[in-house]
Amino acid sequence: MQFQPELIETIRGAGRILFFTGAGVSAESGLPTFRDPQQGLWATFRPQDLATPQAFAQDPETVWRWYQWRRRVHSGVMPNPAHEAIAALQRRFPESVLVTQNVDRLHELAGSHLPVHLHGHLFLNKCAGCAHAMPEVAYDLEQPPLCEACGGLCRPDVVWFGEGLPAGPWNAALKAAREADLVFSIGTSATVVPAAELPRVAHRNGAAIIQVNPAPTPLDPIAHNLRGSAATIMPALLAELGAS
Ligand code: OAD
Repeated sequence: MQFQPELIETIRGAGRILFFTGAGVSAESGLPTFRDPQQGLWATFRPQDLATPQAFAQDPETVWRWYQWRRRVHSGVMPNPAHEAIAALQRRFPESVLVTQNVDRLHELAGSHLPVHLHGHLFLNKCAGCAHAMPEVAYDLEQPPLCEACGGLCRPDVVWFGEGLPAGPWNAALKAAREADLVFSIGTSATVVPAAELPRVAHRNGAAIIQVNPAPTPLDPIAHNLRGSAATIMPALLAELGAS
């Protein structure tokens, strides 16, 4: 794979890199993305039935079972070469920050340093009533357990549509975007706000944007676009950077 020499120089010269990732990074580990027209989760399921506080209030068992199914699917997958290359790049650029929209654990399993999770954690639980952290449970448990503190129902600790992002991760991500001199936007449709604003914030502050995605996104006009799969492009970039 050939990269423009100027692109490689931009990466080499970068101090603070923001790696911003989405479901496409985990696609080659075998996890479906959300918006793929055939295989995406939102092609098969309606988000308003499964990923909103209203859906959980109306039918907690259906929502709980869908997340339990996703936990079973996720528990069998491993990081792919994209996760591994990002972790290696983080080690090479120690001031870099990894911000992910993914609720999986694949960046951690690949050895990434402290990924910032904007949309929560699939495997963690909290009380839907009082937000008290609740323990992980077996993924075949069909009913949501009850909170010891308030008797409320257990729910996955993920961000649903209509909910705000957790303040700590969002503030850390915004700071990283404002301070970045280079952003890699990898495997995300860059359509879900506020997360998708991060590359734009960085760009307004003078950062270069490199996008790794086989398909176009709204970020195309402000990005240097590397069309292809993350598991191919990221290791190739790492090899190119290591070559000299
Ligand atoms: P999407 O499903 O919206 O977008 C996935 C992107 O990955 C698309 O642009 C694909 O073209 C790209 N893609 C697919 N395969 C790829 C590969 N092998 N390498 C690189 N890119 C690839 O997923 P996200 O952008 O992550 O929110 O979606 C953002 C949020 O919407 C998610 O975090 C989730 C969802 O609703 C919550 O759960 C709150």
